[in-house]
Amino acid sequence: MSNEQELPSAASLASRLSEIRRELHRYPELSHEEFETTVRIRQWLEAADIRIASYPLRTGIIAEIGGLNGGPIIALRADIDALPIQEETGLPFASTIPGVMHACGHDFHTASILGAAYLLKAKEAELQGTVRLLFQPAEEKASGARKVVESGALEGVSAVFGLHNKPDLPVGTIGIKGGPIMAAADGFVVEVAGKGSHAAVPEAGNDPIVTSAHIVTALQSVVSRNVSPLENAVISVTKLHSGTAWNVIPDKAVLDGTIRTFEETVRRRVRRRFDQVVAGVAAAYETTASVRWIEGPPPVSNDEELAGLAWKEAEALGLLPVVPVPSLAGEDFAVYQQHVPGVFVFLGTEGPHEWHHPAFDLDERALPIAADFFAGIAVRALAHFVNTAAGGVVTGVNFDEGAVRG
Ligand code: NI
Repeated sequence: MSNEQELPSAASLASRLSEIRRELHRYPELSHEEFETTVRIRQWLEAADIRIASYPLRTGIIAEIGGLNGGPIIALRADIDALPIQEETGLPFASTIPGVMHACGHDFHTASILGAAYLLKAKEAELQGTVRLLFQPAEEKASGARKVVESGALEGVSAVFGLHNKPDLPVGTIGIKGGPIMAAADGFVVEVAGKGSHAAVPEAGNDPIVTSAHIVTALQSVVSRNVSPLENAVISVTKLHSGTAWNVIPDKAVLDGTIRTFEETVRRRVRRRFDQVVAGVAAAYETTASVRWIEGPPPVSNDEELAGLAWKEAEALGLLPVVPVPSLAGEDFAVYQQHVPGVFVFLGTEGPHEWHHPAFDLDERALPIAADFFAGIAVRALAHFVNTAAGGVVTGVNFDEGAVRG
């Protein structure tokens, strides 16, 4: 990795970023409750003389660097929330909050974007536009990105960049691809209404358990018969509740689960067929069924041209860009991409466990790499939008001067 001489190198920030990540890790907070996390981020930004932008967010915080002479706006996004998981890492900086843990590495994401901010602040006068930092709450509930958009913080933004750590990629690699990289994650609750009876007199009732068993089986054909073998979809029924006694046929059953897809067309088709199969099977067994959809984030789908810029930046830094296998997990970064083009990358962090595992951990050597990459891609993207007619216009930004002065 190379840096211009007058800049602090990302490597020199390594221990500072590690301290920041570990402090966040010790004090994790759940979605929409990231009050202390927000205070910490604000203090770290203010200590570096980075200006806080004023947007109406309960938790989470927006800041800005550059833009002294107008120019386009590039957004860098980090999610800041943790999960309701009891940590089992045994690390010296393990969570001090019972039942709450940064088990998805959002502490790493926050430290990474802070690192990028420190690097960008050092060259603020040279920036060809504004870098807006989105420290977003509630990614795990898939509702924080919407809050940020509703706050107005995406106004004037030409492109947005974000990351997820990736335990199965080595440190020094970065997963970059155009098109879909993470899935739409919808939930469903199916309620099957039948008619209860004595278990020995089934003809007097309409058994919702038999109906449910057929629904679970019939749903398997949606992926195999209604989705092209060249496309992807998952339907998983993950809960099935019914009955209270061994000798009673109950009058209802409830099935929960999730559907994952990468393309909006596939998503719509799978949901349409799901509704038809559930209704048809229920009718065949003289029961009725209702489907309630829990709308998740759409697929994370990267802009091809900007993904190319990210690839070049990774190469310029001496990193190894790779085309990653897309993840069927969901990410509300997709909500930003509904409004502005964006790129979401997988940063190699080489950990022993997958996301959301109670012993999840990552390799902190990836922190300065992430900081370097996001500072670099912000500069590169600003130049890109300055050099094309697509450059954004700075509008509607109010700086919270009082807060900056503390
Ligand atoms: Ni995550």
